[in-house]
Amino acid sequence: MNVLIVGNGAREYSIALALKKSSKLNKLFFAPGNGATSALGENISVADYEGLANFAKKNQIDLTIVGPEAPLSSGIVDVFKKHNLKIFGPSKKAARLESSKAFMKNILAKYNIPTAKYIETTSEAEAFAFIDALEGTVVVKADGLCAGKGVIICNTKDEAKDAVKDMLNGDSFGDAGKRVVVEEYLDGFELSVFALTDGKNYKILPAAQDHKRLKDGNEGPNTGGMGAYAPTPLCTPEIMAKIEKNIIAPTIKAMEAEGSPFEGVLFAGIMVVNNEPYTLEFNVRFGDPECEVLMPLISSDVLELFDACAGGEVESLKFSMSGRFAVGVVAASKDYPYSNAAPVKISIDEAALASLSTLGHISYAGVEKREDGLYANGGRILVAVGIADDIKTAQQNAYKIMSTVKFDGMQYRKDIAYQVVGA
Ligand code: AMP
Ligand code: GLY
Repeated sequence: MNVLIVGNGAREYSIALALKKSSKLNKLFFAPGNGATSALGENISVADYEGLANFAKKNQIDLTIVGPEAPLSSGIVDVFKKHNLKIFGPSKKAARLESSKAFMKNILAKYNIPTAKYIETTSEAEAFAFIDALEGTVVVKADGLCAGKGVIICNTKDEAKDAVKDMLNGDSFGDAGKRVVVEEYLDGFELSVFALTDGKNYKILPAAQDHKRLKDGNEGPNTGGMGAYAPTPLCTPEIMAKIEKNIIAPTIKAMEAEGSPFEGVLFAGIMVVNNEPYTLEFNVRFGDPECEVLMPLISSDVLELFDACAGGEVESLKFSMSGRFAVGVVAASKDYPYSNAAPVKISIDEAALASLSTLGHISYAGVEKREDGLYANGGRILVAVGIADDIKTAQQNAYKIMSTVKFDGMQYRKDIAYQVVGA
């Protein structure tokens, strides 16, 4: 099969690494890819969806896999389907589970799927009345996509009211904030759970944990994610059974009933409070860096998995996990997450990295290829992924792999997976 991957991050790189293990893979393309994906396939620079669909036809692409939310929310899947092209990902309508928090919360309420108590409104008076009735910490969210920044945790009612005011008048997030969700604060531990689905049937991957803060001990600003590990033993079989029964299965059913069947990967952001899972958010794509630790743990054919989701064949799919553990540590550039630092050369001890190849690998993100090697191009640069039969060893392996990499201003957390094995 010929496959096109849309995206340019370490998430897409890790999907490519997993596809490369399939005997069914013929040619692999990336749109646009990054400075390292060109070593796994061919990068193309077509960006508009009609242009990509034409490329897919001309190059006999059998399957397109979409990594990030932006093209999904703006309808890439609808364009490909109009051209009868096979594509992994939800339609624009189904992608509202991520692109509109109000839509998502209303689905959860309508189908009795557990989530924080909330109000969804464009009215300041309504939002204020709801805030006054809540106890303790209040969470204020902009309705639309804000690159992970549209959630404000407020310790006082006044802080929450200020946040609502700034969102509704368009000051903080423009149009994305002109509708707000205000909700109760849930105090527990977070899980990332992924269900791969054709709209009816699904396969659930083992739960992962992300590390959103920049610095060790969960200090510093929020980021796209500084590391992840999976499976997490914090998600007991009992909790996973509740997540499946109370959240994943009813959401997939609900989307079908609403006339927007959800195909692709449903990412449930879960908060577990007293052993009960609540839905914090849905995303309509793989988490990054969660994808980088989950892909290498799938022992069945990953190309068949994506193809079955896009083709309505998940029920009969053969699917298995290796039973091993993975820890992924993100290396980011100097000014992340505030701004993009100027490109700097990455030095990798290739001999040392090759000697560690049975312990894990690197998935590349913000890198640019130049004549003298890879340059760090700002943002999250790469993920060192360690794999082993237990989490502690997987963590040690990830840091061994990271020790082969150096670049000016490089920053990474030293405590990924601390929740279960310490720093
Ligand atoms: P979201 O984009 O909705 O997942 O929010 C981003 C992050 O904010 C989540 O990963 C949580 O850490 C936090 N968060 C969001 N909603 C709540 C809530 N109701 N209670 C506690 N923390 C929350
Ligand atoms: N790692 C969280 C996300 O991709 O949104």
